[in-house]
Amino acid sequence: MKIIKTANKITLELLNKKKIGFIPTMGCLHDGHVSLIRKSKKKKLLTIVSIFVNPFQFNNKKDYKKYPKTILTDLKICKKNKVDYVYLPQEKDIYPEKKIIIKNKIHYFRKFMEGKFRPGHFEGVIEVVKRLLSRIKTNYLFLGKKDYQQLIIIKKYLESIDSKIKVIPCDTIRAKNGVALSSRNKLLDQKSLNVAGEIINFLKQNKNQIIKSKNNSFFLSKIKEFGAKKIDYLSAFNLKQLKKTNKPSLNTRVFIAYHLNGIRLIDNF
Ligand code: PAF
Repeated sequence: MKIIKTANKITLELLNKKKIGFIPTMGCLHDGHVSLIRKSKKKKLLTIVSIFVNPFQFNNKKDYKKYPKTILTDLKICKKNKVDYVYLPQEKDIYPEKKIIIKNKIHYFRKFMEGKFRPGHFEGVIEVVKRLLSRIKTNYLFLGKKDYQQLIIIKKYLESIDSKIKVIPCDTIRAKNGVALSSRNKLLDQKSLNVAGEIINFLKQNKNQIIKSKNNSFFLSKIKEFGAKKIDYLSAFNLKQLKKTNKPSLNTRVFIAYHLNGIRLIDNF
């Protein structure tokens, strides 16, 4: 496994390489990331993982500062899973300009959920993805369904620039108690993780009622009773139409963002 720290070197290393699989991450790797790496390896792709906590996708400085960093463990995980290259840039390698101006226009699915509650978040995500993909000319891009809205927005962005990159959506990996694996879980104690498990199981059991309900205040108060301090949203979307829906269907997913012990968690099912 090679660890590469600069844009020039990673571009050079990958020159003339074919069948590349790329897994962009912000580090603090867990089994969810490992499942993406395994998918890429299984496809016999030259597998590249990037680890970079992108400051421009955080709408809150505190959140950026406390984002967990476990670089040594991350590298061990990559090595164990036979990643071919880890791209581990410093901020100035990704953003060499003195003044960064982010002007991406996101046309799809941006007004809702994360786009609404984290202004500028998706613009920052697209910016870093654009920059990473200019260095890593991948054939396949592996993205987790845990960040479903991000997955759709990146896919739509790639379509909008006629990119040939194939996006591979990967299922969310869950802990035994149902909680979706996430780097932010590292910031929660066991008690909060148990509460998160209760919330997610309650939501799964009531999925169709949540979708059908025009007013979900009953579900919101239940989630608060479990221990969530604040709920940013609990909404059902039809992913074909990218619109809110009250109809259960194969294309309908329920999305939630809530705060537990000062940590904001998102999930969908
Ligand atoms: O999902 C993430 O970890 C990040 O949003 C991504 C895609 C690596 C961009 O920073």
